[in-house]
Amino acid sequence: MTALLASGRDADVYALDERRVLRRYRRGGDVTAEVTVMRYVADHGYPVPRVYEADGADLILERLDGPTMLQALGDGTMHLRDGGVVLADLLDRLHRIRVRSATDPGTRILHLDLHPENVVMTEGGPVVIDWRNSIEGPPELDVAMTAIIIAQVAVKPDHPFTDRAEEFLDVLLSCTRDNPLSQLEAAVRRRATEPHLTDDELAHIHEAKLLVTTIARAHH
Ligand SMILES: Nc1ncnc2c1ncn2[C@@H]1O[C@H](COP(=O)(O)OP(=O)(O)O)[C@@H](O)[C@H]1O
Ligand SMILES: [Mg+2]
Repeated sequence: MTALLASGRDADVYALDERRVLRRYRRGGDVTAEVTVMRYVADHGYPVPRVYEADGADLILERLDGPTMLQALGDGTMHLRDGGVVLADLLDRLHRIRVRSATDPGTRILHLDLHPENVVMTEGGPVVIDWRNSIEGPPELDVAMTAIIIAQVAVKPDHPFTDRAEEFLDVLLSCTRDNPLSQLEAAVRRRATEPHLTDDELAHIHEAKLLVTTIARAHH
């Protein structure tokens, strides 16, 4: 029997052996599109786990060793400022990769769920996981999506990371190359339709949007 390593919102991740994991969507799905993206960005030097096999809802991936950025921020092994800088850099690096097939030269690959739970801090550097939401589009949308996800934590009064999330957002938006404001409305609309969002998160999404607006205006 393989050991369950971690469970995210959508997937369970099992250790197959020392170097491989099985990532399985609990409610089914098709990993074809995300595998194509992962291989494309990997070919351009972007840090993602190597894909060994893909079939239906299952992915066999390189096993990453290290805490998620959220865990590292939580236990104090990573400073907030460093986390914000690393996340901004991961967004920027992704958005430097050109999309060969795109007609609009500004089109880039977007992750659209690039937040501290989807970054694993390995000895070799940060590695980005969980490419399910990835599409092609304007980079500002990706920055706006990351910002709104973090702002949603910052506006939750009972969340253990409330204060730190606002500071993290401030560092992040002081470092990102792209100004998220032009795509903030689109990001909020997209975020609001995500099935796992709670009623409470939905009720506060406007507040999160206002926070992103205030902080982005201060930096861009
Ligand atoms: N390649 C990997 N190696 C080791 N752990 C992983 C790997 N991929 C994911 N994980 C762990 O599993 C968790 C959930 O994976 P993720 O791909 O983010 O799924 P979800 O869509 O459910 O959030 C991650 O937060 C991480 O702790
Ligand atoms: Mg995840």
